[in-house]
Amino acid sequence: MKVVISIGGSLLTKKISYENFKKYAKVIENLSKKHSLIVVCGGGKIARKFINIAKAAKADEEIQDFIGIMATHLNASTLASIVRNSYLVKWKPLKETENEIKKHFGRKIIIAAGYDTGHSTDYNAAYFASLVKADIVINATDVDGVYDKDPKIFKNARKYNSLNFDDFIKIISKLEQSPGKYSLFDLEAAKILKKEKIKLVILNGKDPKNILSCLNGKQIGTTVL
Ligand code: UTP
Repeated sequence: MKVVISIGGSLLTKKISYENFKKYAKVIENLSKKHSLIVVCGGGKIARKFINIAKAAKADEEIQDFIGIMATHLNASTLASIVRNSYLVKWKPLKETENEIKKHFGRKIIIAAGYDTGHSTDYNAAYFASLVKADIVINATDVDGVYDKDPKIFKNARKYNSLNFDDFIKIISKLEQSPGKYSLFDLEAAKILKKEKIKLVILNGKDPKNILSCLNGKQIGTTVL
């Protein structure tokens, strides 16, 4: 299958260590035996800490986003230094990444990050998915899926096993979409996936084996289609 994985920076930077990055690298190498892969890395706590400094200085959103983008490249280049047979898509305007992606997709494991300001890495995952006509986008994050209300606040919150894109878009439209805070998923990314009819699975990636299980057909997280 053609698979795009958006790895939340929160997972990569939970513990900034060789062992933690290696854990994800191993699963990615494993998956590449069966699937063509693009892995897009998020910024996580490094992005948020540095963005908060710029916020405190009342800097404009463009520079806040650019700080976030730099953090995503720190994570992506570190991951690419470990994953064998990988190709790192370095920073440039998003449109200019297209030829590289097309050239290396299926031959190497593509590791990507943030490019244009104004959105999150989930957007890039959706953009690349539409470029290579992917079968699935997996958003590996630090929650178990999509809930009807915030599970951190409401004990009776109910997780959806599946949702359609219209209902999913309604849910994320109510959430914040600003530098460092694309809670749950990027709205524009969801719109691309809906238009292109590409399946999205949001799952807990704290254990990267969940990504393997999902691609082996196990019902895990929330499927949006
Ligand atoms: P992330 O995509 O990691 O944001 O990029 P996120 O959703 O807040 O966090 P995690 O990683 O899933 O936990 C970090 C920030 O970098 C900027 C945005 O401000 C984003 O919030 N960014 C990222 C861009 O402006 N453009 C991009 O292509 C990617």
